[in-house]
Amino acid sequence: MFSTDMLTDTLQQLIGNKTPDKTVLARLIGAQGDEAVQLRSFANDIKQQRLGNYVYFRGLTEFSNKCSKNCYYCGIRAGNKHVDRYDLSDSDILDAVRFAHEHKYGSVVLQAGERSDKAFVDRVDGLLRKIKQLSNNELGITLSLGEQSPETFQRWFESGAHRYLLRIESSNKELYYKIHPENDKHSYDKRLKALYDLKDAGYQVGTGIMIGLPFQTRHDLVDDLLFMQNFDIDMVGMGPYIEHTETPLYKFKDQLLPLNERFQMAINMISLLRILMPDINIASATALQAIDPMGREKALKAGANVIMPNVTPGMYRNSYKLYENKPCTDEEASDCVSCLEMRIGLTGNKVGYGQWGDSQHFRQRKGEK
Ligand code: 5AD
Ligand code: SF4
Ligand code: FES
Repeated sequence: MFSTDMLTDTLQQLIGNKTPDKTVLARLIGAQGDEAVQLRSFANDIKQQRLGNYVYFRGLTEFSNKCSKNCYYCGIRAGNKHVDRYDLSDSDILDAVRFAHEHKYGSVVLQAGERSDKAFVDRVDGLLRKIKQLSNNELGITLSLGEQSPETFQRWFESGAHRYLLRIESSNKELYYKIHPENDKHSYDKRLKALYDLKDAGYQVGTGIMIGLPFQTRHDLVDDLLFMQNFDIDMVGMGPYIEHTETPLYKFKDQLLPLNERFQMAINMISLLRILMPDINIASATALQAIDPMGREKALKAGANVIMPNVTPGMYRNSYKLYENKPCTDEEASDCVSCLEMRIGLTGNKVGYGQWGDSQHFRQRKGEK
């Protein structure tokens, strides 16, 4: 246990530190009680000082749950025959995007299962152009569509996407292959290369991991933090792993930490990353709210500054279940608007309406101020 003053000193030394003490990080990942409270409030102060009291919205469209992959943790993996597969029509997607634009969400995220066939790549390209057009270039666009070729990344960038989220899931290659099949379609090296390709194409690059996976140790999580720092990411989305009954990893459910501990660790990870990388964008993962009804708000008070309200039409939300107990699956986008504004007000923040809320880290990286 650190004393309050000692912990303040320890945390001070971690600010922007590129060679942090791994033992200290491992301890803080497991912080509980008063120590955890102090860690959260320290990270929140850094966020407020460096980025102000704004939270940015990204309207999330989960436009298709068809996926060609078989990640062992994910409820919509290709091998799960119990999923009703859907593909939103272009007009449904554009309606959702228009909703986000009209409500001044600033940016949208297009997310779907991973596909790289030509029809899909062309379709996304067309959608990007239409989104830019319907919003008079006002909406920022983030993609979360998995691994693609450098050419596809480039093409989508030129058509208007400027941020891309691709989680590494775990930076430990051995653990990666415990949670994915070990084959060409789920190659760790390819995932890593895709992250570099995204940087080369000019995107603001986001990655992330799951916290509380079976077989994962605190040392893995320390290495994940260092991985994100060394890769020099612009954004992150990380949240607790939540077991799904219809997945292969479910059989290890008895080895998992209790949900509340996974939740606490996820919040600690967010706070630590905020301290290590003060100017990146950190999303408050939806999976946090699957565990705690106030989960996303807690993350926003622990260093996160981005939230991704779902704008997918309500009837499809129940079919995009990567994990169980996903929040707002019975709501329509309009229900979330006032709910969210109230929730964000409670965290002492304001919504950055109509702004892209780009990663300040990216601007620094590109030599702008
Ligand atoms: N629990 C938590 N997060 C999950 N994801 C997929 N399945 C789960 C799960 N069972 C996350 C992955 C993926 C993102 C889209 O959702 O990290 O990258
Ligand atoms: Fe497909 Fe993504 Fe789920 Fe993996 S995590 S099975 S790529 S939707
Ligand atoms: Fe969706 Fe509250 S955020 S109903």
